[in-house]
Amino acid sequence: MHLTVYFSPNHLDELELRDKVIVVIDVLRASTTITYAMRAGAREVIPVADVASAMKIVGSLNSTSTVLCGERNGKRIEGFKLGNSPSEYTEEAVEGRVLILTTTNGAVALTKAKHARHCFVSSFVNLSATIEALFSLPNINAENVVIICSGRSQEFSLEDATCAGMMITKIQQRVPEVTLSDAARGSLSVYAEYGKDIYKTLRESEHGAHLAELGFEDDIKVAAEIDSMPLVPVLEQTAIKKRLIFSDTLREEIEARAAIKQEAAKPVRKAKVASS
Ligand code: MLT
Repeated sequence: MHLTVYFSPNHLDELELRDKVIVVIDVLRASTTITYAMRAGAREVIPVADVASAMKIVGSLNSTSTVLCGERNGKRIEGFKLGNSPSEYTEEAVEGRVLILTTTNGAVALTKAKHARHCFVSSFVNLSATIEALFSLPNINAENVVIICSGRSQEFSLEDATCAGMMITKIQQRVPEVTLSDAARGSLSVYAEYGKDIYKTLRESEHGAHLAELGFEDDIKVAAEIDSMPLVPVLEQTAIKKRLIFSDTLREEIEARAAIKQEAAKPVRKAKVASS
């Protein structure tokens, strides 16, 4: 296996990513939020690079089950139903719905990966699950796996590079003979320096400080919870429709909830009252 890291999707061309195995990381916050949305039962998340395209898509789908979501400069876009906080993506808000999501960096990175053979959406909350997803692929040891950090303002971001470094460290523990690009080696050093206290790293990063200023301190705490969500959203071409679950407990919880909903949806038979 060879691991390549990009610290920003900026100069990446979607055709050069064609047929690759890709992991897209946006710790603060798109990847974390998408994972929460898929956990809450969103039918589909469609990542879109800009606001105008999001409006166009929502118009063309013309469905009551479609929800416009996203942020600019960290804040919910005017007229959009949801912003980019994981806590907004509850079952009540997203279950069974198609989410059109535009974010400054994460959604852009995902649109570049639309021709990938496999593309997993990753962050600290599902880091080990992402590794499981990678190793569930056939012949993974022969692949060149590309990790795309969404970055910030088309540049490097500390939180995404630290997450990439942690992922590579764990992959190396599993496959010691893995080879690394220079940027992949660099992310190992970033992780060695900043991986001891993930919450502190996130909170003190440029984007973490910006989010805290906007009042999104809780989002940083959620994003720093390593492996809290054993579920991996999968991008297939232009949409995330699939989630891989790597926990029996979570699977059982999701199945139990679906069974309750199915039961509740059954038509209630009126009891016949015998007339005397
Ligand atoms: C992004 O895509 O740039 C981020 O998710 C921004 C944010 O914190 O909402």
